[in-house]
Amino acid sequence: MQTPSSQHVQVPPPWSDKVSEVLLSKQEISRRNIELGKEIGDKYHGCNPILIGVLKGSIIFLADLTRAIDIEHELQFIRASSYHGTESSGKVKIQGLENVDLKGRHVLLVEDIVDTGLTLKHIVDHLESMGPASLKICSFLSKNTKRRLPGTPNVDFIAHYIPDKFVVGYGLDVDQRLRHLPFLGIYKNTK
Ligand code: IMP
Ligand code: MG
Repeated sequence: MQTPSSQHVQVPPPWSDKVSEVLLSKQEISRRNIELGKEIGDKYHGCNPILIGVLKGSIIFLADLTRAIDIEHELQFIRASSYHGTESSGKVKIQGLENVDLKGRHVLLVEDIVDTGLTLKHIVDHLESMGPASLKICSFLSKNTKRRLPGTPNVDFIAHYIPDKFVVGYGLDVDQRLRHLPFLGIYKNTK
């Protein structure tokens, strides 16, 4: 369990108009990923788990985490898209598992961030309906927010807890931008 502590790290000059503060430095992220990878490896020893990353936000985290897990495991990716502007608004469509059999498998869902928990709830319901032997959740970030919905599934592995701010980098975007930043920063909304 980690809370951000890198306020002293300067925002690199090219990003200083978009990012107000570095919340997690590249080094802190990397250190914690190694710790978490070890924890996951110990937990799933002999289980050949399937790690399922939620596109696109989790790709950078999962790319680093997978290399920090020293047991055999498989990778899959899903996309979760919300329907907007219809009466079914709030429903989430899940794609990517059409040809994947999760029955009897140990599944570890890998998310970028849990905010309200709505996306997570829908994904978990979907995965549970596929009959896995176990289903656990790993998230790079958990946002400390009052908006968290009741009934949000418990997150088993959390790399970092963050305050209720809009963050970018290390996979997290604002309108598809800034995912590539190697650190996690607080977005400076200049609009
Ligand atoms: P939830 O359904 O409200 O938990 O939101 C989850 C999704 O919202 C995440 O997978 C992100 O794509 C997006 N999101 C939530 N908070 C942030 C943020 O601070 N920065 C970037 N994306 C965010
Ligand atoms: Mg997003």
